[in-house]
Amino acid sequence: NDELFKNVISHAKEYGFVFQSSEIYDGLSAVYDYGQNGSELKNNIKTYWWKSMVQMHENIVGIDAAIFMHPTTWKASGHVDGFNDPMIDNKDSKKRYRADQLLEDKIARYEKDGKTDKAAQLQDSMDEALKTDNLDALRDLIIEHEIACPVSGTRNWTDVRQFNLMFSTKMGAIADESDVIYLRPETAQGIFVNYLNVQKTGRMKIPFGIAQIGKAFRNEVIARQFIMRMREFEQMEMQFFVRPGSEMEWYEYWKETRLKWHKGLGTPEEKYRFHNHTKLAHYANAAVDIEFEFPFGFKEVEGIHSRTDFDLSQHQKFSGKKIQYFDPEINQNYVPYVIETSIGLDRMFLLTLINAYEEQDLSDGDKKDSRVVLKLHPCLAPVKAAILPLTKKDGLPEKAREIMDRLKFDYNLMYEEKDSIGKRYRRQDAIGTPFCITIDHQSLEDNTVTIRHRDSMEQERVAADQLGSIIGKLVSW
Ligand code: GAP
Repeated sequence: NDELFKNVISHAKEYGFVFQSSEIYDGLSAVYDYGQNGSELKNNIKTYWWKSMVQMHENIVGIDAAIFMHPTTWKASGHVDGFNDPMIDNKDSKKRYRADQLLEDKIARYEKDGKTDKAAQLQDSMDEALKTDNLDALRDLIIEHEIACPVSGTRNWTDVRQFNLMFSTKMGAIADESDVIYLRPETAQGIFVNYLNVQKTGRMKIPFGIAQIGKAFRNEVIARQFIMRMREFEQMEMQFFVRPGSEMEWYEYWKETRLKWHKGLGTPEEKYRFHNHTKLAHYANAAVDIEFEFPFGFKEVEGIHSRTDFDLSQHQKFSGKKIQYFDPEINQNYVPYVIETSIGLDRMFLLTLINAYEEQDLSDGDKKDSRVVLKLHPCLAPVKAAILPLTKKDGLPEKAREIMDRLKFDYNLMYEEKDSIGKRYRRQDAIGTPFCITIDHQSLEDNTVTIRHRDSMEQERVAADQLGSIIGKLVSW
């Protein structure tokens, strides 16, 4: 599994999906850039989400709020006071660690060594310490379980301190305290502060939702597992506003609806599971994660949270503006309750890549052969079809260009005439292109081409005029 994950990471780089940020300067930790194929794949995932949430739901609309928000937003949301990780430093190596992460690693080690009782006991003590914000208890557990610094190997630890995850910067020319603003750590607050604007201008009736895709920033101290935990990442969030008392019904609805969305891409069912939260965030009365089985275990991809009226009430209090809904059906004013669905786009990207990646042995007797193919859902594939003239002469490139010019309005295509046709097929397999269209001498005579299917590698000859509808059948939403 480690091997598979390593191979996926190098494949992602080699084929223009994901690069380390500022790589020529040796990179920036936990920040990544999406390359030519990665940004296409990412855009296609966004489209799949946006269409299923906004286009397919009459009562959900989308917005695009700014990353910078009034600083009071984060006081109201609880992020200034409560969005912290408990950190501990090793005095010898001067390295800083997340205290809960050190303990989780220890729990994993106990489990690996078959000490399940010890693992469970430590888990309980850690959960209790986190729940009660007892930083001293966290440190005591680190000492008691003899956890050493992975770098220095010593157990010379400082106290545990809270470390806020928000990035701050200054707005305007005067470096005054009051000018400090934050880069948003979640997109959700941009939706909450626009609740009144959207409800009024869109004449929205409860229940209704507001959706958004955008960047979020967290100063994560532990940066691990490639694009799983980044400092700059993207979220796709939807807040669904409901009548108080109906939230559990909608919570169940969104749990099932979101899992269906994941399965709609053809991912095997057993790769997904729900994980109910036992520790709830300050704003939630129920929360569940949709987890996917990554090569390093089941990990959260999406969260569905019942946030009560916490956020809107807080913004009402801090802004002094009345944030209420008059419900004509029951003739009452209330602050709506919220069910949130929040998925990390980058984690969804990684999941998609891992799921699609396949190394195939195609050896035939003594003839050794293999390929790497990305079995991406055709709707998500960065390139929908490759246009390949068999040779660079005899008018084949011109004919190929003619076909390309007709199809490129509807589909993202790639034209390639370099190297043997076999090599070109392999390059397209590696980026997940569902169709390779080859133009040969016969094409000049009868206007037919061969179309090769990525997964079966089978080829058929079809009329060039039919290409649009053949491709469309598989790749349209
Ligand atoms: N508004 C709710 C919220 O932000 P969250 O569980 O903190 O909830 C939601 O984040 C999703 O965002 C996660 O399920 C995960 O997919 C993604 N996410 C969170 N932190 C991330 C990070 N540092 N890097 C990449 N994705 C992250």
